[in-house]
Amino acid sequence: MNLSVQLAPQNKKGLPLTNPVMTASGTFGYGMEYEHLFNIQKLGAIVCKGTTLEPRDGNPQPRLAETAYGMLNSIGLQNIGVDALIKDKTPAWAGWQVPVIVNIAGRTIDDYGVLATKLDKVAGVAGLEVNISCPNVKAGGAEFGANPESAAKVTAAVRKATSLPVIVKLTPNTGEIVQIAQAVVAAGADALCLINTVKGMSIDVKTHKPLLGNGYGGLSGPAIKPVALFIVYEVFKVVNIPIIGCGGITNATDAIEFLMAGASGIQVGTASFVNPRAPMDVLEGIEKYLRENKIEDIRELIGIAHR
Ligand SMILES: Cc1cc2nc3c(=O)[nH]c(=O)nc-3n(C[C@H](O)[C@H](O)[C@H](O)COP(=O)(O)O)c2cc1C
Repeated sequence: MNLSVQLAPQNKKGLPLTNPVMTASGTFGYGMEYEHLFNIQKLGAIVCKGTTLEPRDGNPQPRLAETAYGMLNSIGLQNIGVDALIKDKTPAWAGWQVPVIVNIAGRTIDDYGVLATKLDKVAGVAGLEVNISCPNVKAGGAEFGANPESAAKVTAAVRKATSLPVIVKLTPNTGEIVQIAQAVVAAGADALCLINTVKGMSIDVKTHKPLLGNGYGGLSGPAIKPVALFIVYEVFKVVNIPIIGCGGITNATDAIEFLMAGASGIQVGTASFVNPRAPMDVLEGIEKYLRENKIEDIRELIGIAHR
């Protein structure tokens, strides 16, 4: 059985994965936190926590709220900063079999270029995932991802600064996601990640105030799966680069739906909070599905729902 996929066919370095199962940024730390739970080296790729130029403390507490079939978060990109990441995390990754992709976010377009320059040629970094879709920060993030022009500008700045494979992660919080996807492709992205969280809120009926310290947050988990699946399906029709599906994937059936909609890779996010072994369970479930259905190459499934 062949489970391997290529997420950056137009890139010189390429981004070959032994299988399509990845972890979603912000839900799997830097990978090492999960090493004792299962063999993380078997995953297709790990995407690390969103990384900014400077270390950040994130938003005021509370930053998490449970919802029906999902959760809201307003972490606000709490992270150690790119210099500490390069010094403390990448040396371990360089010895790993599983590729690690660094998720980056900036306050300005220049920030994205500087981050890409710093991470270019760092051993242990297999690619960049450009977050122009974080709903929880005031400057940068989703602001850049909300229209085709600014999304293209950020993509072009990163493209210019690195030869690493560049994945651009888009927000569903816009009416223009198809146009944004096309603009990002034209600006040189190697792959798209669809989607980041959906903006939402909860109100505390005792205090009469928004429950999250930030007022609102990003909805994730099974509640957003149909939204993410539809976006993958729609964007697949108009782009010619690989798509990574993300949003509510909890089990192998969810993942296979995304492959059928057109995703070449999938990311498991919130499900890891409920079951830390979820990415591995999804991978094993996909293998079982292929065996049972006598499918020799996973690529046969990619986009099959369109045929
Ligand atoms: C606690 C938390 C932190 C997150 N942090 C990031 C981040 O730093 N960068 C990013 O691009 N996405 C981040 N995300 C979004 C996820 O990577 C993913 O796109 C989203 O949660 C949808 O997938 P899911 O429903 O499987 O969780 C975060 C999500 C959660 C729940």
